[in-house]
Amino acid sequence: MNKRETFGGRLGVIMAMAGSAIGLGNIWRFPYMVGEEGGAAFIILYILASFLLALPIFFSENIIGRRSGSNAVGAMRKMAPGTAWKWVGVLTVLSPMIVLSYYSVVGGWSVEYLFKALAFDFTGVPPEKITGFFSRFISSTWEPVVAHTIFIALTAGIILGGVRKGIEKFSKVTMPMLFVLIVAITIYGLTLPGARAGVDYLLKPDFSKIGAGTIASAMGQAFFSLSLGVGTILTYASYVRKDENLLVSGVGTAVADLLFAILAGFAIMPAVFAAGIAPGAGPGLVFDTLPFIFNKMGAGIPWISAIIAILFFLTILVAALTSAISMFEVGVAYLTEEKGMSRRLATLAVAGGCWIIGILCSLSFGPLSGFHVFGKSIFDFLDSLCSNWLMPFGGLMFTLFVGWKMKRSDVEDEFTNGGKVNQKAFPVVGFLIRFVAPVGIVIIFLTNLLL
Ligand code: ALA
Repeated sequence: MNKRETFGGRLGVIMAMAGSAIGLGNIWRFPYMVGEEGGAAFIILYILASFLLALPIFFSENIIGRRSGSNAVGAMRKMAPGTAWKWVGVLTVLSPMIVLSYYSVVGGWSVEYLFKALAFDFTGVPPEKITGFFSRFISSTWEPVVAHTIFIALTAGIILGGVRKGIEKFSKVTMPMLFVLIVAITIYGLTLPGARAGVDYLLKPDFSKIGAGTIASAMGQAFFSLSLGVGTILTYASYVRKDENLLVSGVGTAVADLLFAILAGFAIMPAVFAAGIAPGAGPGLVFDTLPFIFNKMGAGIPWISAIIAILFFLTILVAALTSAISMFEVGVAYLTEEKGMSRRLATLAVAGGCWIIGILCSLSFGPLSGFHVFGKSIFDFLDSLCSNWLMPFGGLMFTLFVGWKMKRSDVEDEFTNGGKVNQKAFPVVGFLIRFVAPVGIVIIFLTNLLL
């Protein structure tokens, strides 16, 4: 068995966890979900879901991961030997591979946009032409598949670098850069003429738009954004040292993730309105809107627009990579620890599987667009299957495991570092894990199934 690595220090842990959380989910998925699900009311539900449902699962995965020091399957094998809990481990190793497959397609879009920005292809181009470019690009056969291949290859390359040198180092450098850029774009976006309508859209809730589907989507967004229920946080937690404070890294990650999503909303939505793009435009929303903002920010000087665009698409790509590596690592940890594979072979196996499923997802915008599963394209079907069902289900299982299967004294010991920290918070966290999160998820599942 390979010797296990650990993250170097507190900053490294928070950066890596935040790197896993902050990604396309915040910058690409959140703004378009807000646009499709009706604005401010969705945001309120998303915030509630983040703290009441997602955060307890974040803690649960941390407790299981760090206590076992194992991958998702190994953790269940060690902590509940000879039981069906093993299958929870198996499910949470398989589901991030599905997420990664379509995530990589969108990662590929950011690769393509970075190339376009480097070639000055967007500078001075009016919004309708940019929109046209996006729809032509994703519906073509080869270009998005090549971009998806580049994205998977980049992810695999970082994974081969290992935990400390690859994942941790990479996240530490890039996350602050992303933050600075997104703040700058938000501030600029708010000054655009016509931006006010976008701000109202984000701040004035219309609760009449909320149905069972909206609540399920808000929960799905919270899980997707924090990379929960798919063994990712569990696996990262297995590399966390015993003296790290799980409450601090959990709340730190959740707050950073939420902040990024809201910032991305404020960076994108005012510009959506200013550019006259429909907020419900779907997965292309951010890719249609950003070049418009960059052109405006350049104030007619092409190289300024181009530099902003290059920096931004580079950081989107980096944010996507820091999330992708966390999902990738789940499969690699499993294959190296449970199946005795070398890290290199495991990386190849995960990359190959995700690459093939990703091709189908990519083609579902083009040649396979007529092929539907439960009325959705392959891409949309896998996204809603993972975000709205598999991730919350995996999360539900983790809360049941920590809340009801593990010994309470063991849970407390792990969360409080043997009684040294977080003793006051433990009863509250325990209550959220045992009751609030599982009951909330089951109610949302049932409402979504029955209504
Ligand atoms: N949590 C990752 C993201 O938000 C998947 O992009």
